[in-house]
Amino acid sequence: MNSSRYSFPAVLLHWLMAGLVLYMLWLGVSMVDLPKGPERTAAYGLHKSFGLLLLGLFFVRFGWRIRHTPPALSGRGWERKVAHGTHHALYLFLLLTPLAGYLASSFSTYPLKFFGLAVLKAGWPDESIQEIFKRIHVLSAWAGMLLVGLHIAGALKNLLRRDGSMQRMLPACGVQKMNTCSDAEQ
Ligand code: HEM
Ligand code: HEM
Repeated sequence: MNSSRYSFPAVLLHWLMAGLVLYMLWLGVSMVDLPKGPERTAAYGLHKSFGLLLLGLFFVRFGWRIRHTPPALSGRGWERKVAHGTHHALYLFLLLTPLAGYLASSFSTYPLKFFGLAVLKAGWPDESIQEIFKRIHVLSAWAGMLLVGLHIAGALKNLLRRDGSMQRMLPACGVQKMNTCSDAEQ
């Protein structure tokens, strides 16, 4: 079992972003089928606002991550390689998906707002450029679903094997029941 854990900000950002990402994937898939009207407009507005929040949180998390070495991954050689690769791909997904969404919205005719506040667009109304970023956004979101599925399956497998990786990604007080509260914070 590994004796080090993720720092509290890393744990907080992980679970906050995980919850938001799962919500955003569900919201994104359900909103595109809504008929035109106030419900669709509200769903799109909420999706864009939480998406922009996730884009901001990505930079906070990435900034923290490059300054703090995470605990060593557990498992056999190939398992560590898969987990390592998945984590990198998840970070790429956390950047590319909201960035492409922002750029797609930047080249659309609709105004872009963050919970009611106007946001500066990076482009001008242009349907063909908007379509390119929309495609990247949708492709990246669906690839992200596969990655998140793979990641959760790996996390649950490790949890069943009781290898300590889940405890590392929980706040120290939340692990008391799992008997590893004495692990040192990294
Ligand atoms: C849904 C979106 C999620 C995303 C985008 C995500 C992303 C990530 C990333 C990028 C890491 C690597 C952290 C680092 O090294 O800086 C990580 C670690 C981890 N995640 Fe997630 N995660 C998600 C959901 C979940 C869920 C639902 C679980 C639990 C079932 C989970 C359990 C873990 C665990 C246990 C680790 C630590 C792995 C280790 O150190 O061995 N994650 N996650
Ligand atoms: C991590 C953050 C995000 C996730 C996980 C996400 C996920 C999704 C998903 C799953 C869809 C539906 C794809 C489909 O057609 O099946 C979608 C659509 C969409 N998203 Fe996001 N999104 C995120 C951020 C953003 C941001 C920041 C914006 C804009 C500011 C945005 C704008 C849109 C728009 C306009 C659509 C509709 C595309 C269409 O009409 O085909 N998204 N998103």
